[in-house]
Amino acid sequence: MIYSKLPQTDIEVSKICLGTMTFGEQNTQEEAFEQMDYAVSQGINFFDTAELYSVPVLPETYGDTEKIIGNWLKERNNREKIVLASKAVGPGNKHIRGGGRFTREHLEQALDGSLKRLQTDYIDLYQLHWPERHTPRFGGLNYEHKPEIEFTPFEEVLEVLQEFINKGKVRAIGISNETPWGMMKFIECAENNMKQRISTIQNPYSLINRVFEIGNSEICHRENVGLLAYSPLGGGLLSGKYIDNQRPEKSRYTLFPNYFKRYQHENTQKAVEEYTKLANELSIPPSKLALAFINTRDFLTSNIIGATKMSQLKENISSIDVEITKDIEEKINEIHFNFPNPAP
Ligand SMILES: NC(=O)c1ccc[n+]([C@@H]2O[C@H](COP(=O)([O-])OP(=O)(O)OC[C@H]3O[C@@H](n4cnc5c(N)ncnc54)[C@H](OP(=O)(O)O)[C@@H]3O)[C@@H](O)[C@H]2O)c1
Repeated sequence: MIYSKLPQTDIEVSKICLGTMTFGEQNTQEEAFEQMDYAVSQGINFFDTAELYSVPVLPETYGDTEKIIGNWLKERNNREKIVLASKAVGPGNKHIRGGGRFTREHLEQALDGSLKRLQTDYIDLYQLHWPERHTPRFGGLNYEHKPEIEFTPFEEVLEVLQEFINKGKVRAIGISNETPWGMMKFIECAENNMKQRISTIQNPYSLINRVFEIGNSEICHRENVGLLAYSPLGGGLLSGKYIDNQRPEKSRYTLFPNYFKRYQHENTQKAVEEYTKLANELSIPPSKLALAFINTRDFLTSNIIGATKMSQLKENISSIDVEITKDIEEKINEIHFNFPNPAP
């Protein structure tokens, strides 16, 4: 495994982070325990979760993933060995505090709920799951200006997060699904008000969605913020298993065809076919090639992988050993140029 520091901190994290949003829906607690045990045995010390999970989002399963992780931490008695990341929801889900906000009241309730379910008294990296502002996200490409939609001022959000840090409930902070403007505002506001700077931004990033490279990645370099890449396989598409309209049993897009519509574009299929062809030429499983590309980006702090089966988890973690040569990168970039960002 490869390790680096979470930017702005002394916290060391593995280049591969274990995503957990299937725990409590596609994966039982027993399967989740097996995944977490195996991940740790391979040197992974970084887990990502959220109050919102399991996914797909349902009122009945709200908080279930955190509960499973909490049970595991208690049973294994290894809290201090894991760097735990969780998130407070943004607006949109009525069953969570009537729709999430980043006001003091909402953030305090969100954090206390997560701490309780996780059976811990601190979260290493506390993230805002998506902006309160009206921004393009989860498949949106265009920014529509809607000034009438209110949001909690950056200063107030940072003040509450700083208090969490001062109380020892949180060690570092991050944002997610953010735009370059939002990222810069958090940084600027922290500097102007002597508050904690964001360490990370957790955005989607994969061979079929490299939008992050356009605006956000420069900020990562210039402002020392790390990307935590999510959905690095586009939800499993980049494994190649859906090619030719195959619908593999018990797989995400077979089980929940309407939930993730943004991944269904025709050009996504074409791009995936090309990446799969390249992987076959290189005699590498397509998933490993796709993940290795993400692992090796210089603005990445950690690649948040997801798996529902142990065979997937093993394959995905082993992507850490794949080298992306200049020649492979050129071939990948050629496909990207022909099919840019079909699944934003
Ligand atoms: N901040 C956010 O808004 C946000 C959003 C999404 C995710 N996340 C985080 O990122 C993590 C990962 O996201 P993701 O699950 O979308 O990642 P992903 O890597 O794009 O998709 C993972 C899914 O692909 C399939 N898969 C994985 N490895 C495979 C392999 N080797 N061969 C074939 N199929 C394979 C599995 O689903 P099937 O077995 O069902 O096919 C697995 O659950 C989440 O757990 C969560 O922590 C954050």
